[in-house]
Amino acid sequence: MTDANAQPLYDTFARADLRFERGEGVWLITEGGDRYLDFAAGIAVNSLGYSHPHLVETLKTQADKLWHLSNIYEIPGQKRLGQRLVDSTFADKVFFTNSGAEALECAIKTARRYHYVNGHPERFHIITFEGAFHGRTLATIAAGGQEKYLEGFGPKVSGFDQVPFGDEKALKAAIGPQTAAILIEPIQGEGGVRPVPDEDLRRLRKICDENGLLLILDEVQSGVGRTGKFFAYEWSGITPDIMAVAKGIGGGFPLGACLATAEAAKGMTAGVHGTTYGGNPLAMAVGNAVLDVILADGFFEHVQQIALFMKQGLASISDRYPEVVAEVRGRGLLMGIKSVVPNTALVQALRDEHLLTVGAGDNVVRLLPPLVVTEEEAREALSRIEAAAERLSVTARQMSA
Ligand SMILES: Cc1ncc(COP(=O)(O)O)c(C=O)c1O
Repeated sequence: MTDANAQPLYDTFARADLRFERGEGVWLITEGGDRYLDFAAGIAVNSLGYSHPHLVETLKTQADKLWHLSNIYEIPGQKRLGQRLVDSTFADKVFFTNSGAEALECAIKTARRYHYVNGHPERFHIITFEGAFHGRTLATIAAGGQEKYLEGFGPKVSGFDQVPFGDEKALKAAIGPQTAAILIEPIQGEGGVRPVPDEDLRRLRKICDENGLLLILDEVQSGVGRTGKFFAYEWSGITPDIMAVAKGIGGGFPLGACLATAEAAKGMTAGVHGTTYGGNPLAMAVGNAVLDVILADGFFEHVQQIALFMKQGLASISDRYPEVVAEVRGRGLLMGIKSVVPNTALVQALRDEHLLTVGAGDNVVRLLPPLVVTEEEAREALSRIEAAAERLSVTARQMSA
């Protein structure tokens, strides 16, 4: 018997009833021609917005040459992109992947392998933090430690010890002879836009150094210009040993990377890790094109300037609508509105204003516009947020009357 509601896709996504056909800059346009201001950007992926001419041109040119080439050969653009990442970060070595979770898998394996080749195979435990999100593979759901993602998938992958966010005492107590590394997002994204204070990151670096642990940063969401620096760790002055990157680095093309110091990556020798598609010619071409734009003079200053403008505008909305907005948090263009009303209601009210945002934990609504957003577009977004807050506050007042 056929089910009238049957559809061919897994039911894993609760999709909005919106059908987009194309995009221009920070705008998404539906099949019917309705324009939406996109302050979700594919969840921090479309860093240069939609249809960026340099990315489109680069992808088309590479498509005429080579799409796929096995990593048993040298892949066009791969060394160049790797070198540019090395030149602009703490890292000496790069491994390319197709996604954030794969970049994390590589990071976890790199840390475990480091201790293994140092003669300590027992040191495979990684300390992570409550509220973290590191992806949906079996190892990364164990690292994230969230019950809602672990439930029903059999035994949790062992070797991940979770401590409360911001609890240094619990962190120190969790370090033992089996500990290999500490894994942390400099700003928890899915967890509710919760930044780790710079001084805490500096303390984490010190704790790692004192205990022979590797510091792994997950900059899948916070990296590639999102906070107004190339990577968020730069604000704190520390450097990690290993870092997972994805999302914005491909500007919408699936691309991730695991970066490491030569010392941390010393166990990752020929044959111990691999990938079929990671680092493919199309991804490398687009990744290099993204860096052409992001690493150009003035780009990060632009992000910082728009972020300040948004922060001031959001603070003013928060002051005027305390019954809707409890708090504004984040860094750069990774912004969170802690909502008083359910965050789903705020996301919907913003969508009704044709402004796209995305929910997060802790009843937060994330604002993650493409980094190329202009001040005029930011002003437009603020006026739509204000309109939504006004409508929600009228409803809130009526309900309490
Ligand atoms: C901080 C962080 N790490 C890892 C991931 C997983 O990335 P992907 O979905 O590309 O596997 C995400 C995705 O949202 C993320 O935000």
